[in-house]
Amino acid sequence: MSTTEGHGPVRSRYALVLAAGKSTRFRSDKPKVLHDLCGKPIIQHVVDKLVALGVERLFVVIGHGSEEVKKVLDGYPVKFVLQEPQLGTGHAAMMVAPHLEGLSGNVLVVYGDAPMMSSITLQRLFEAQEAQNADEVVLTVKTQNPYGYGRILRDEQGHPYDIVEEKDATPEQKRIPEINAGFICCNIASLLGGLPRIKPNNRAGEYYLTDLLRVLRSAGGRVATVEAESFTEIAGINTREELAAAASAMRAQINRRWMLEGVTLVDPERTYIDAGVHIEPDTTIYPGVVLEGNTRLGRGCTIRGFCHLRDAVIDENVTVDHCSVIRKTTIGRDSSIGPFAHLREHSVVGTETRIGNFVEVKKCVIGDETKAAHLAYLGDATIGDDVNIGAGTITCNYDGVQKHKTVIEDRAFIGSDSQLIAPVTVRKGAYVAAGSSITNDIPEFSLAIARGRQVNKEGWAVEKVREREERKKRKAAEKAEAKKA
Ligand code: UD1
Ligand code: CA
Repeated sequence: MSTTEGHGPVRSRYALVLAAGKSTRFRSDKPKVLHDLCGKPIIQHVVDKLVALGVERLFVVIGHGSEEVKKVLDGYPVKFVLQEPQLGTGHAAMMVAPHLEGLSGNVLVVYGDAPMMSSITLQRLFEAQEAQNADEVVLTVKTQNPYGYGRILRDEQGHPYDIVEEKDATPEQKRIPEINAGFICCNIASLLGGLPRIKPNNRAGEYYLTDLLRVLRSAGGRVATVEAESFTEIAGINTREELAAAASAMRAQINRRWMLEGVTLVDPERTYIDAGVHIEPDTTIYPGVVLEGNTRLGRGCTIRGFCHLRDAVIDENVTVDHCSVIRKTTIGRDSSIGPFAHLREHSVVGTETRIGNFVEVKKCVIGDETKAAHLAYLGDATIGDDVNIGAGTITCNYDGVQKHKTVIEDRAFIGSDSQLIAPVTVRKGAYVAAGSSITNDIPEFSLAIARGRQVNKEGWAVEKVREREERKKRKAAEKAEAKKA
């Protein structure tokens, strides 16, 4: 027990996440809790919330796919506890018991497959436990469709005395609308006292953590319940269908938040924004847009339909036109991208630039006010300010073994349909004639023409054209004959 404030003594807070289960219903080689939910593995949503809550110590029980789970949570202030074999949620909690020995305070126990929980509810669970000094506080919720969840059994006085799992419930019990949300807060001593008395006497032959309630009650302990705000926040993800439902609910939350922050979503139900994305006000996002990873959008941007941005960092007043794909690329203010542009990876694009339709950009640094308006491939290039890249320009950066660099300095002008065969440098203000294959560096302010010379053979086609006309007439006549016959 430490300080005293508000409603009573604040005790040390601990938390424990159970994430060792096999997740049979998910039918996946990958642990269920590592599947993506709005840009973050399910388990990471759970752990992030508990870390934000500021618990003293956070335990994560791992088992199935433990190495992968560890990798995802690398760097988090958590203590991993291995459960092997996995004999149920009660058994998982038992694995942590030795680590809780000698500690006093309260411990929140949550499941790794329920990521929608609000921090306010978790806070309420701790507060209820602290205020009532109970042995266990159980979060419950009433739902029209309790299928699959543990049902709360209450006595005549309305006190909870047991939780019965779907598999073990009688038809009558299955009709109980109040379910175990899967979040409990226990006095550490009560948890340590109760766990050894949980036995695998059920259909699944598992140690159920849910039996703790009965165990504590029958020993004369005090168990209280707290009701969750909504079913949505407690929903567990046991199947891919439930994953999709959770993602849809989380997306709606994310979208609502950005609209409140001043972002226009033309059709929020068709806008896909990951949890890690940030958007400044007065930006407009059209339907079908997917914003992933750590994408950042500045003020006043317009992202038109079906653009896909991942880890893109975009300054203010940028327009990204339809169906453009941008990955790991930074774009300066007042630029215009697309439609159908592909900025692939590790590029930096300056201000007031134009990357137009069917332009692919990879690992380029592009200056300010530069234009590549149509049909180009720019790879491994450093391109200066106020450069014009004509339609059909290609940086030939790959010789089959190695990648080579192209440098195009300020105010250079690359005529349409030119190939710049790297390594090559086009110096300041130099011009490349359309249709050139450039293999040598071009000095500043020079014109490079590198293409076959044109030869005109006068009158060469007269006979050809006459023959073509005659053939046409003959065919038409034959067709007319055939019709008459
Ligand atoms: C559990 C509850 C149920 C509750 C529901 C809420 C039990 C017995 N049942 O059911 O009352 O309504 O959650 O979502 O607790 N796990 C382990 N080790 C194991 C088994 C499971 O760490 O040996 C972990 C799983 O990885 C999972 C969590 O515990 O993250 C819950 O297990 P799960 O099998 O999903 O329980 P439910 O059947 O959903
Ligand atoms: Ca579950």
